[in-house]
Amino acid sequence: MTDRARKILVTSALPYANGPIHIGHLVEYIQTDIWVRFQKLRGHACYYVCADDAHGTPIMLRAQAEGITPEALIARVGREHRDDFADFLIGFDHYHSTHSPENRELVETLYRRNRDGGHIATRVIEQLYDPERGMFLPDRFIKGECPRCGAPDQYGDACEACGATYSPTDLKHPVSAVSGATPVPKESLHYFFKLGDFEPMLRRWTRAGHLQEEVQHKLDEWFAEGLKEWDISRDPPYFGFRIPDIEEEKYFYVWMDAPVGYMASFKALCAREGLDFDAWWGPDSDAELYHFIGKDIIYFHALFWPAMLEGAGFRKPTAIFAHGFLTVDGKKMSKSRGTFIKARTWLDHLPPEPLRYYFAAKLGPGIDDIDLNLEDFVQRVNSDLVGKVVNIASRCAGFIHKRFGDRLAEALPAPDLYATFLQAGEEIARLYEAREFGHAMREIMALADAANQYIDEQKPWVRIKQPDQAPEVQAICTQGLNLFRVLMAYLKPVLPAMAERVEAFLRCAPLTWINIREPLLSHTIERFEPLMTRIDPERVAAVLEASRADLAAEAPAPAAPSASAGPPAKEPIAPEITIDDFAKVDLRVARIAKAEQVAGADRLLRLELDLGGETRQVFAGIRSAYAPEDLVGRLTVMVANLKPRKMRFGVSEGMMLAAGPGGKDLFLLTPDAGAEPGMRVR
Ligand code: 2FM
Ligand code: ZN
Repeated sequence: MTDRARKILVTSALPYANGPIHIGHLVEYIQTDIWVRFQKLRGHACYYVCADDAHGTPIMLRAQAEGITPEALIARVGREHRDDFADFLIGFDHYHSTHSPENRELVETLYRRNRDGGHIATRVIEQLYDPERGMFLPDRFIKGECPRCGAPDQYGDACEACGATYSPTDLKHPVSAVSGATPVPKESLHYFFKLGDFEPMLRRWTRAGHLQEEVQHKLDEWFAEGLKEWDISRDPPYFGFRIPDIEEEKYFYVWMDAPVGYMASFKALCAREGLDFDAWWGPDSDAELYHFIGKDIIYFHALFWPAMLEGAGFRKPTAIFAHGFLTVDGKKMSKSRGTFIKARTWLDHLPPEPLRYYFAAKLGPGIDDIDLNLEDFVQRVNSDLVGKVVNIASRCAGFIHKRFGDRLAEALPAPDLYATFLQAGEEIARLYEAREFGHAMREIMALADAANQYIDEQKPWVRIKQPDQAPEVQAICTQGLNLFRVLMAYLKPVLPAMAERVEAFLRCAPLTWINIREPLLSHTIERFEPLMTRIDPERVAAVLEASRADLAAEAPAPAAPSASAGPPAKEPIAPEITIDDFAKVDLRVARIAKAEQVAGADRLLRLELDLGGETRQVFAGIRSAYAPEDLVGRLTVMVANLKPRKMRFGVSEGMMLAAGPGGKDLFLLTPDAGAEPGMRVR
């Protein structure tokens, strides 16, 4: 290692405590975790902290909809998040909650210091209020007609039809998404953080190398638009922390205490590990502080956050690393396509490390979106990790076991090649440091190719047939296994569990960037066990299918009106459509002419539907409720003009209609006697 030991504190954005972790989130946690593991392998004092983001209106409403307290909700979701992260090998040093004593104390400190510095203002503002629920409505909980284009059912802040942005009071015919009531304007006193006070500092800071170049340009636009005061207060009912030192009941807005959660989590770690909090967060700290975030929350991290820290006399971040969004097969994650994949659903069918590797192979230091192409995923993991990396070990280990009593040779036959591998470590380290993970993976795979090429040239399987060549074979395989060991050290930030299996197989100390300098010689290893197996594309198909099924089983929307416990909330009625909209759907009576299971698809049946002269193939997710033989001959109803969809098993040329939440509770629609295949349903 060339640089001195550094003190590094790293965070990922805090996930909201009202929903599951999905693969879109995982891009960030995997990116951060790889970087942190790399820093630790290099011998730095690096800590990785995170927490659940536990406050705010959506969490309050979701808890109400479930008939539980917000505390119970965030405790449950917090456990799920921790399990998901642990199983994806995200190695937090501490995982906390923003609903914690440390966070309350810290946010009060930040607030009081900013207030005493004159950076908090108060002002009466008018907002839309739900008279039925007795609460002010966040923009996202108000719907109405777009004031510009008249599109119905638009949110209170922006129109998805024409792109207009506006204030919720501009919406025509607004309704509260919480109760359905018509909201009314109402006044209330609010507390504001005077961001403008920090403009000179922020202009300097944002240009001093703390941000990525693309992000800096975005900041320039925001400066040009002018920095506005930021509303940091909310009225009750609200799940959050009370603003201290005032008579009225006011709460800190969730985004005020969320980033403070980074400090709170670290503070809890300090208590656990005996670290000195001020040495990391004090104004003269010599530690480095990095926040990994998505590009959608740059404003909070690059403007509000450094300003609040400055106003309270704390240190500011060393850098903010924003990343892009995840697409799956080139498109936004979609519940109906099954590409809105929860972390847990993935883990039910596939191991975590292939996804870690694939994301690493796709990640760079910028804010471009990254695509998970599922076919490419299978192919890339199988060819790189199994076909190239593991292959080196499996080609060499057998001979060492069978012919040499698991004993490695005394010397490397190709020390120069080994030296080349070690040398490459500096460039690979530079790439990791610069978050050029994709580039780093390519370098490592090029080394894997070189190792395989070495074995190809040395042909141990030919030499082993000549008794006098045995020492050479032992030496060649020793060389191969040592090259493999170096590669695994380089891959260890990405594949920590596989690296551990390799350490056990080679009976060596935990791999670091440093201890690979000494090759393993005259050393006994364990018998080779498969370190990673090929991914079967069927497993990926199973993930998609299970994700579609998750959708069917999903809990009611967080804004469901029912406030009390009671019978399970019904699915809310979809937004209104016109008779013309309805007329576009061509529903037909169909006879199920054939029904069969689809190999490799646990939830699908393949049906042939007779429309009275025309036959359609439809794949329907009803296998959990119906056996094929129960269906043949039955009349039912189908959507006959749905655009054909190409599925992995064939093209689906329509859709069956069934009622119910899913699983066993699915009920096919059957017309009364007299209906004939092909009749239109109106
Ligand atoms: O956007 C989000 O999901 C937020 N919960 C992120 C908070 S990051 C930090 F500021 F706390
Ligand atoms: Zn519009």
